Amino acid sequence: MIRPWFILTAVLTAPAIAQDGGQLYTTYCSACHAENGMGATGGQFPPLAGSEWIKDTPDRAIQIVLHGLEGPVEVKGQPYNLAMPPQGAVLPDDQIAAILTYVRSSWGNDAGKVTPEMVTKARAATADRAAPWTAAEILKLHPLPKTPSPLKNLTSRVYHGKWEHLPKFDELTAENYEEEQDGIISLKHAGRKDFFGMVWEADFIAPGDGEYLFRFSCSDGGRVILDDQVILEVHGRGPMNGARTVACIEELKGGSHSFRVEYYEYDGDEGISLTWSGPDGKFSGALTDTVFQRPTEAPSIPVEPTAGRAAIFRSFIDGTTPRGIGIGFPGGVNLVYSADNLAPELLWTGPFVDAGDQWTGRGVNPTPPAGENVARLSQTPAFPIQARFEGYELDPAGNPTFLVRIGDTHITDHYQPAGGHSFKRTLTSKGESTTILISETLPVEPLEDGWQIGERITLQIGDAHPILRNNRLYLELPSSGATTLRYTLK
Ligand code: HEC
Repeated sequence: MIRPWFILTAVLTAPAIAQDGGQLYTTYCSACHAENGMGATGGQFPPLAGSEWIKDTPDRAIQIVLHGLEGPVEVKGQPYNLAMPPQGAVLPDDQIAAILTYVRSSWGNDAGKVTPEMVTKARAATADRAAPWTAAEILKLHPLPKTPSPLKNLTSRVYHGKWEHLPKFDELTAENYEEEQDGIISLKHAGRKDFFGMVWEADFIAPGDGEYLFRFSCSDGGRVILDDQVILEVHGRGPMNGARTVACIEELKGGSHSFRVEYYEYDGDEGISLTWSGPDGKFSGALTDTVFQRPTEAPSIPVEPTAGRAAIFRSFIDGTTPRGIGIGFPGGVNLVYSADNLAPELLWTGPFVDAGDQWTGRGVNPTPPAGENVARLSQTPAFPIQARFEGYELDPAGNPTFLVRIGDTHITDHYQPAGGHSFKRTLTSKGESTTILISETLPVEPLEDGWQIGERITLQIGDAHPILRNNRLYLELPSSGATTLRYTLK
């Protein structure tokens, strides 16, 4: 015979310890991290959905819930700098375990269960801690999981020789060949410290469409070749430091791309460092086993057009509106297009931009144009007030076309290099005719075949119809068809 009170106790004890993680999450976390885990108030608070902070070991998140977290922290490639209050005094171990089990298995997260015992142990280990954690402290105890390498089918070849610049490796015989299963570029198979070269080949698997940032430094020299184009190169002999670090941004389609790195070491210190980050900062990591440490002073990381392609730089750029898009053409003529004012606002020649200040977080400091003599054409909206920016497209050569809509009128605004310090701007419209502001801050003088703007810019406008009013130069765009302008910088 089963006694009723026996069944009752069995029923009571089991569910009594099973806390409802979802319910507790709503009560204790969702005000800041949102019910959907994306971070409350439109992402002002960091997300838990897809966050690397709650992956693998649960200890990292347990400690954050127990003691709180404050100061700068990066989550999914985005910087935050707020404070999360400690909850260890309010929440018992089984409730923390239930919340974190829920967080680790919701919204696409896929990490294991957290038991009350794990929390008890973690709490005991840091019992004498009074202050909230900083990101640096917690990462020292519980480092973040590494992003899996996007390099598949990686092979390495080692060559012996004394080189002070890149040899033609394909004409040489390799001393050693390895398949590098871990997808990490390393000098560990070099077998010597001086007078050698290495070549790595792989498929770079881009996780999605968009802009990829690569940074490269090595001692002594080398280069990175993506889809048979040299994208980065370090010349000559020298140490691996900020002054010899190069970076570039490449627009890639998701999927497989051929990838090759060539490298040589003369003598002295050797090393190679290559990092990548994917679209919207969602992915990032090192492709090498040594990562160049950021010196306390921001290193110089020139962003340059590569192999005949324009470089696009989309971060805060000094001297223009928050949505400024930098374009560096091969040949050394550069501009910033403001997506707020729908106009090319800054023009300069020489080096494009230096991304050194943005080594870690994105867009922390505005990046100044790297060249000299930056000329400002305008700083107010180019179109009537109801004009809207609708994004931009890149043609196969990497040249951008900005898309603008004014009611039912569609305007495209295309830029391409035109030799020397010149570029061509082609505006097409479909809809109604409209007036566009070309220049407003510099003195404007008519020339025989165009306009002189300030001392350094000449503008040819073909047969477009100009309007000069109070030193402001406008053009009339017809209701359909193309208008081609040519800007030349001295
Ligand atoms: C009062 C707002 C607030 C509450 C409530 C809160 N958090 Fe946070 N949380 C934050 C902030 C802000 C940060 C980032 C702190 C910083 O900038 O240093 C953070 C960071 C985190 C992180 C690390 C970064 C990330 O996004 O993955 C985790 C994990 C986390 N919180 C989990 C939780 C859990 C679980 C709860 C509920 C028990 C919770 N938080 C409750 C505000 C809050």
